[in-house]
Amino acid sequence: MAELDGDVFHPDRSVAATAHVPDADALRAEALADPQGFWADMADELEWFEPWDKVLDDSDAPFYRWFTGARCNIVHNCLDRHLTGPNKNKLALIWQSEDGSEHKTYSYYSLNRQVNMMANIIKAMGITKGDRVTIYLPRIPEVFFAMLACAKIGAVHSVIFAGFSSDALASRIDDSESKLVITADGSFVNGSVFPLKSIVDEAVRYSPTVENVIVVRRAGNEVTMDALRDHWYSDLLALPIAKGTCETVSLDSEDPLYILYTSGSTGKPKAILHTHGGYMVGTYTTLKYTFDMRPEDRWWCTADPGWVTGHSYLVYGPLLTGATVFMFEGGPTYPYPNRWWQLIEYYGITQFYTAPTAIRSLMRFGEAWPNRHDLSSLRLLGSVGEPINPEAWHWFHRVIGKEQCPIMDTWWQTETGMFQITQTPGEPQKPGSAGKPFFGQDVAILDADGNEVPDGEEGFLVLKNPWPAMLRTLYRDDQRYVDTYWSTYPGVYLAGDSARRDADGYLWIIGRTDDVIKVSGHRLGTAEVESALVSHPAVSEAAAIGLPHEVKGNAIHAYVVLRVGEKETPTLAEELRAHVAQHLSPIAKPDAIDVVEKLPKTRSGKIMRRVLKARAQGLDEGDLSTLEE
Ligand code: PRX
Repeated sequence: MAELDGDVFHPDRSVAATAHVPDADALRAEALADPQGFWADMADELEWFEPWDKVLDDSDAPFYRWFTGARCNIVHNCLDRHLTGPNKNKLALIWQSEDGSEHKTYSYYSLNRQVNMMANIIKAMGITKGDRVTIYLPRIPEVFFAMLACAKIGAVHSVIFAGFSSDALASRIDDSESKLVITADGSFVNGSVFPLKSIVDEAVRYSPTVENVIVVRRAGNEVTMDALRDHWYSDLLALPIAKGTCETVSLDSEDPLYILYTSGSTGKPKAILHTHGGYMVGTYTTLKYTFDMRPEDRWWCTADPGWVTGHSYLVYGPLLTGATVFMFEGGPTYPYPNRWWQLIEYYGITQFYTAPTAIRSLMRFGEAWPNRHDLSSLRLLGSVGEPINPEAWHWFHRVIGKEQCPIMDTWWQTETGMFQITQTPGEPQKPGSAGKPFFGQDVAILDADGNEVPDGEEGFLVLKNPWPAMLRTLYRDDQRYVDTYWSTYPGVYLAGDSARRDADGYLWIIGRTDDVIKVSGHRLGTAEVESALVSHPAVSEAAAIGLPHEVKGNAIHAYVVLRVGEKETPTLAEELRAHVAQHLSPIAKPDAIDVVEKLPKTRSGKIMRRVLKARAQGLDEGDLSTLEE
């Protein structure tokens, strides 16, 4: 029997007994003693065109290289290899529309054909190995086709969350010098239409590298098509070029797979670069072991493909394991807050992986909504993106998991590509703790001088071992890669989070230590929000901070100094919020905006956000010796 003993959940013994990893601590010790041996064994479970010479080449650290000399393609392992065995006619992807009126299914065989058609089309547009392609799509099957089509021919995708504004999209298209953009006419967001194509039109005006735009018909909204540049996807599919067969290109293990922009401490987003070989081994292994993937499972990860969770555990990881993936176009509460529970029941979802913010928002609607549904198909739950507070953990465990399902809290980052801290299903779980290091990982918590802190004390979270799915660099910015992650403590990876370890070896993540704010699990940089604010004509200076929020984890509070001659009006705050939504993204809208005379700054002119944060929470302001007069 599963039982909750004080604040430790012990899954039923049968869970560990039947899991891929029956004794996790034993494998943890074994893999840590020989990480390369562990990763080589896992890599052997996948198919390679040519074997590797070396598992890990660390001769140019921190530019680590994995499975050097090997030839492979992640798509061969996601699709091709399933076509010769029992998975051929298995469902690879199930999709339902936001309003529930449409439902599509793709077997591995048919998904492969769709990917091939898209690959042939983009090849005909001149996209070849190494070219960047920007994908700006809603959660529709074409996002799978597009990502896999790029990877198949060796092109590098850059997926942009389809909630980013035209400015944010333009700067990312520009930075990646994409030749092609794949988008849709519009997307459905809680019943209304978000005009993706017109945002792309706006963005592409400033992006001289873009030669073609492929437009998927989705929302039926009116769009303007540039006769030379823009093409309806349905028209392209009707061309003879859109054949259902296409060669999967043999690539070097270290050839780039994708770039993904994420927020850092400066206004310029970082382009995280991932490669084929190591990433496929890392995502495959972590998903298989942490979520105990079995052939009969139906996996649902609620993340959007615009974020790393969507890349690793909605698209690539599940297909690598030969799973059936479910993708839902909509969100959890439209039209009613039972939408997700209804889908779990309808499709018989076995593993459900989501974010604490979603759980907290659904808790508020009460238990009656989930209780209307039969959720007994679930065997594992998962959480990602921010610390899960014990209250949300218990609700998820009791109301959704019926006190039987283990909850895999997974700590990782866009940079890490795969889980770093988590558990396997059979292990005891502590609500609020992300668990223990994943196999082969060496996690430490350091003080400012680089010494390990004693158990129970807070410090900086670092990763001491390289791992296969690690970022290889920041695209075209090797120096920033070294400076950001590898310079604070030479030779170890600085995660940017603070954490503590308890006496049982469980890790407790506290939060970011830099100028990154996690809002509803989304990663935003204070500098990005500030630069959106100062682009408003009334604002001369701005500071953004994150303050604790019951549902979102953190909410953005902003302080603005107005330009000389500008006056605060009753509508100004709302106008500035709308301005941030339009110039960055609706997810970045500050909850509150205060007009102030002056911002606290150091004598060298740096905004002291920690002072603002302390003041807003009525806390001690700490050391003010560097504050200017
Ligand atoms: O602060 C940590 C938090 O999310 C950050 C990484 O954000 P991003 O690159 O957007 O990736 C999110 C999805 C992998 C981390 O530095 N974070 C992520 N997962 C957890 C978490 N904090 C606590 N517990 C987690 N499980």
